[in-house]
Amino acid sequence: MRKEVLGILCSGRGTNLESIIKAQKQGEIRAEIAVVLTDKPEAKALERAAQAGIAHHCVDRKACATREEFEEKLVAALEEAGVTLVVLAGFMRILSPYFVRKFCGRILNIHPSLLPSFGGAHAHRDVLAYGVKVSGCTIHFVDEGMDSGPIILQAAVPVMDDDTEDTLAARVLEQEHILYPRAIALYVDGRLKVEGRHVTILK
Ligand code: GRF
Repeated sequence: MRKEVLGILCSGRGTNLESIIKAQKQGEIRAEIAVVLTDKPEAKALERAAQAGIAHHCVDRKACATREEFEEKLVAALEEAGVTLVVLAGFMRILSPYFVRKFCGRILNIHPSLLPSFGGAHAHRDVLAYGVKVSGCTIHFVDEGMDSGPIILQAAVPVMDDDTEDTLAARVLEQEHILYPRAIALYVDGRLKVEGRHVTILK
């Protein structure tokens, strides 16, 4: 089987990145991590990549005049690194159809709620405001909509009466760190069959 080459995109602290690097080093993800890219120069994810000896750089969104220019630079960096699977790990930008078509069916994202509920940038705040009793996280393929692609894995956590955004986020994050490496491993092992919205895990 062809070995997948991962390119990981982050915006911030990069704890999901860390869990993916750990799983790859332990042989649970049988793929190469070729490059880590961020849209912000201060993203802690860059330091984590450096510590792990992974090529990394920032494509500074603020230094690009347009989203087109920014995404062209991202695509060039990913193609140059030979990336076959794009992993969005806390990447806080919506990608245009141009980018999504370049890596059609080969982009994964993690979202900190049980989609299709509470998509968008403030999932925990919205969960608490709505008063639901269960939240969680979702790993999904990226399509041209927002948080709308076929779902690969989900994990649920309870929402407590005294939760704040921070306590809920921490409970969900624990599950994210388990779920994302697992979903990536299933992809790189060729065990995901996608038919329309439905993703089946092959034995
Ligand atoms: C995670 O909660 C992820 O689900 C969301 O942004 C957060 C990123 O955290 N999209 P980290 O940078 O991986 O620590």
